Amino acid sequence: MGLGAQSANTTSESDILGSRPVRSAEAIPRLTSLGNPAMPRTLPRRVEPEWLDQLPAGDPDAIRSRRDLQRLNRLMGHVDSMARLLRRGGLGLDIQRLVDLGAGDGTLLLSIARRLARSCGHVRAILVDRQELVSAATREAFRKLDWEIEIVAADVLDWLAAARPGERTMMVANLFLHHFAEAPLRALLGRVAESCETFAACEPHRSRFVLAACRWMGWIGCNSVTRHDGAISVRAGFTAREISDHWPKSEAWRLDESPAGLFSHLFMARWRGG
Ligand SMILES: C[S@@+](CC[C@H](N)C(=O)[O-])C[C@H]1O[C@@H](n2cnc3c(N)ncnc32)[C@H](O)[C@@H]1O
Repeated sequence: MGLGAQSANTTSESDILGSRPVRSAEAIPRLTSLGNPAMPRTLPRRVEPEWLDQLPAGDPDAIRSRRDLQRLNRLMGHVDSMARLLRRGGLGLDIQRLVDLGAGDGTLLLSIARRLARSCGHVRAILVDRQELVSAATREAFRKLDWEIEIVAADVLDWLAAARPGERTMMVANLFLHHFAEAPLRALLGRVAESCETFAACEPHRSRFVLAACRWMGWIGCNSVTRHDGAISVRAGFTAREISDHWPKSEAWRLDESPAGLFSHLFMARWRGG
C-alpha cells in the first residue's frame, strides 16, 4: 500500500458516507469574510482522504465526479498549463517517454495530446493510477493521435520503486501531489527525481480565496463528491515554494514554482546536469 493511500485504503464505504462534508463557515470561508483581520492569512496545509479515491470505479457518484473533474480541469486552465509545461519540457524534441502519475481516466492527458499532436508526433506515454479507469474509447482516441499508451494499475510509489531510471523521460502529475503529506511527498519526489529528466505538476493553490471559491462548484453543477474533494484538495494544496522544498536539494536541478491563474499552482523541475 502506498503512503499516500494509507487513509483511503483503511476507510470503509460506510465511513465515507459517515463523514459527509461539513458545510459550515469554518469548513469553507465565505468570500465576504476574507478581509477579516482576525483570520490568519496563511491557511495551514492539511491532507485528508478524498471520497473519489475511496469509491469503487463504477459508483455513479464517482463517475459523475470524474466528469466534473474534466470540466474543472478545463475551467482552471489545466489543459493549457500542462500543454505549455510539456512543450517547455521538450515533448516531441528530446523527450521520448512521458509518464502521467495519478492519471485518472486519462482524459486530461488526452485533451493535452489533442493540443500537442500536430507539433510532437509519435509519443510513448505511461498512465499510472491505482484504479483502472481508462476506457476503450479513450485508448482509441490516443491511438488515432499516434500516441502509444501503456496503462498501469498500481500505486505510484510501488511503480516508482520498481521503475528503471528513464533517459529522455518526462513525468507529469495533475491534481495528484496534494494527496501526499510531508514525508511521503518528499519520498515520492525523491523517486521521481531519480527516474526522469523533467517533471511538471499542476496542483490546487492553497489560499482562503480558493477555499471560499469552492462554494462555486455547487453553482456549476458539481456533485457532493466533487464539492467535498474540492475543499479537501485546496486545504492540501500548495503555496510559495512548498513543492520545491520537498524536492531533493541539488544544484543539478532547475526548479520553477508559482501560482497560476486564480486557482492553480505550477511546479517544474529540469535536470541541468552536474
Ligand atoms: C484528483 S484525481 C486526478 C486524475 C487526473 N490526473 C486528472 O487530472 O484528471 C487523482 C487520481 O490519483 C489517483 N491516486 C491517488 N493516490 C494514488 C496513489 N498512491 N497511487 C496511484 N494513484 C493514486 C486516484 O486514483 C485518482 O485517479
